[in-house]
Amino acid sequence: MSSRPELQAPPEIFYDDVEARKYTSSSRIAEIQTKLSERALELLALPDDGVPRLLLDIGCGSGLSGETITENGHQWIGLDISESMLNVALQNEVEGDLLLGDMGQGLGLRPGVIDGAISISAVQWLCNADKSSHEPRLRLKAFFGSLYRCLARGARAVLQVYPENIAQRELILSYAMRSGFAGGVVVDYPHSTKKRKEYLVLTCGPPSVSSAVPSGKGEDGESCSDDESSGDEENQTVCISDRHRPRKKQKVNKKGKGREWVLRKKDQMRRKGNVVPPDTKYTARKRKARF
Ligand SMILES: C[S@@+](CC[C@H](N)C(=O)[O-])C[C@H]1O[C@@H](n2cnc3c(N)ncnc32)[C@H](O)[C@@H]1O
Repeated sequence: MSSRPELQAPPEIFYDDVEARKYTSSSRIAEIQTKLSERALELLALPDDGVPRLLLDIGCGSGLSGETITENGHQWIGLDISESMLNVALQNEVEGDLLLGDMGQGLGLRPGVIDGAISISAVQWLCNADKSSHEPRLRLKAFFGSLYRCLARGARAVLQVYPENIAQRELILSYAMRSGFAGGVVVDYPHSTKKRKEYLVLTCGPPSVSSAVPSGKGEDGESCSDDESSGDEENQTVCISDRHRPRKKQKVNKKGKGREWVLRKKDQMRRKGNVVPPDTKYTARKRKARF
């Protein structure tokens, strides 16, 4: 069975009483989620003026991410679809106010009241259709539309996500942009399979200086510079896009160019005197998509 919880059961069923306890009592999970939350808060870039802000924690679970918000001196409202996770949060007497709800149906908060939002390891759940009535695109639209509305203008939302593949990441980002957000994806440790983490850094309102996307962290913990020019997915520490920037249409031939085409090209190159690797049974083989 897949190790991705999203593929095993709907969140409110996967995170039942047993799983909620197991999740919260694991020191390994607590350590990881705390680090992710600290980084999300860093990317949120709230003013360093000592004034407590009202933040939203989307998919707050048992309150691991919320506790980091409390430790940083801010107040928070947590929303989660799993009653069991929220029960653990209540038992742990977290500081935040808790809401039981489905982000895919919108957040139901008053316009402009939230100073910033974080979400740790939760938004990718919206890409799955758990019920016949679920349409991921509509759920993403409802979520990002309501998130945009409840944030104060100029406020940020930092969503750490585990998309299953590039298409899923693009889908999530495209719905964020359509809702009016500016921003993009920050990728920390892009070259490490284990440590690689992705954060959507979104700003409410039109693109401005504050909506510039920060750099991701490199292997050594230092900031990596943006390397969009390489065109190599793994080398792109930050990919920036916003709804005001027209996207280049990618020419994609579904069938690919095929073995014959590759062999013909290799022959042409040989005739031009280039050093070309010999043809083998692996030439022009279909490769697995890499994330
Ligand atoms: C991996 S847990 C992370 C919990 C918490 N953010 C943390 O860092 O410990 C993912 C959480 O997202 C919640 N979730 C998934 N889909 C959701 C939805 N549609 N609406 C609200 N919460 C959702 C799950 O119930 C679960 O508590």
